[in-house]
Amino acid sequence: MDKLIIQGGGPLSGEIRISGAKNAALPILAAALLAENPVVIGNLPHLHDITTTMSLLGQMGVQLSVDEKMRVEVDTSTITSFKAPYELVKTMRASIIVLGPLLARFGSAEVSLPGGCAIGSRPVDIHLKGLEAMGAKIRVENGYIHASCERLKGTRLMLDMVTVTGTENLMMAATLAEGVTTIENAACEPEVSDLAHFLNKLGAKISGIGTDTLVVEGVDALTEKDLVYNIMPDRIEAGTYLVAAAVTGGKIKIKDVDPSTLDMVLSKLRDAGAEITTGEDWIELNMHGKRAKAVSFKTAPYPAFPTDMQAQFLVLNALAEGTSVVTETIFENRFMHVHELQRLGADIKLEGNTAICVGKKTLHGATVMATDLRASASLVIAGLVSKGETIIERIYHIDRGYECIEEKLALLGGKIRRVPS
Ligand code: EPU
Repeated sequence: MDKLIIQGGGPLSGEIRISGAKNAALPILAAALLAENPVVIGNLPHLHDITTTMSLLGQMGVQLSVDEKMRVEVDTSTITSFKAPYELVKTMRASIIVLGPLLARFGSAEVSLPGGCAIGSRPVDIHLKGLEAMGAKIRVENGYIHASCERLKGTRLMLDMVTVTGTENLMMAATLAEGVTTIENAACEPEVSDLAHFLNKLGAKISGIGTDTLVVEGVDALTEKDLVYNIMPDRIEAGTYLVAAAVTGGKIKIKDVDPSTLDMVLSKLRDAGAEITTGEDWIELNMHGKRAKAVSFKTAPYPAFPTDMQAQFLVLNALAEGTSVVTETIFENRFMHVHELQRLGADIKLEGNTAICVGKKTLHGATVMATDLRASASLVIAGLVSKGETIIERIYHIDRGYECIEEKLALLGGKIRRVPS
């Protein structure tokens, strides 16, 4: 397995561009299953999870072709199977998002039940309960969800918890249902809104976009022709580079980003002492060489602090001036990076779902292991500031969500290289 080798060094500085958002690209590729005509999707990031989604669609008989601008055309007219097999779902739980579109358009879907994962048990009960309320017949047998329906029926759905992919699955299913579906306690994440805009461009009738109540008026078919849609910028990738720059006391500019999706992250970076300037599609961060101040926060659904930025900010706190209290409320086991950061010398204590961190002046390089995507990002940031060499093993996690991370960090002056296995 590949490794990353990082030499701790000076402040990051320079400019990079942010890629398309993984968590918007995945549901939008799945939503293409709803389209009667071929659609072209642009600004797709080059990531393992995107390749997995394309393989999943390909296995169903969907035709995918890449054009000269590296956009992907998805043509569902050749679809022959409505199955998401275990072999693919086990490598990417987000495969569950094909369930809603397959069921709504073809009346049948067989999707492997995703298992738990490193960060928590991650059930899909809310997805299934919502589809059943819309008239689907669902049976879980031999590790597979078997779903079938005549045409789905619009209804009022009140989600038990805020769930991102749950909201996406139900919203996609509702686009072709008979009548109006109201999704209350819906996730307001910008990626859900990006998907809703894509669906509306295809011909869906979704309102309340960006709020916790989505109203979907079902239509007979999504028939838009010649649609070209560009995926929104990745706010978590953007936040990760900003934190990396802040921890190193650096100054960077990130381009092709939407600052309005990062309000809470930018606010916490300002609390940490960063000077931040924004334009329509760029953000500049300048730490003026200073050490960050510790920041406390609790993760919660958007627009509150994102769980996907918790690990990165914990590194900032590990090296900051002062003590911080960080509470994770979304996933029950998303502190695996803490044990690895402790190996670099961080003073972090875990009490249930809370991490109490006393900032230290230095961390020291060691060999550490990536446990999940955002945990890996936090270890990379830690490596950039730890004295000496940090070796990160099991980095396949990072390739699922960060496009060319070592090239982008190298552009900012980071001393990082990949050693292939
Ligand atoms: N939940 C249930 N039942 C359900 C669905 C969710 O109990 O049917 C619980 C989950 O166990 C969790 C909470 O609800 O405790 C929220 O989970 P959610 O469903 O929102 O997570 P997700 O949709 O599986 C997406 C992102 C994650 C991100 C979370 C939270 C995608 C593909 N994944 O996951 O991204 O952390 O929302 O914002 O959109 C990542 O990119 O590293 C990543 C893990």
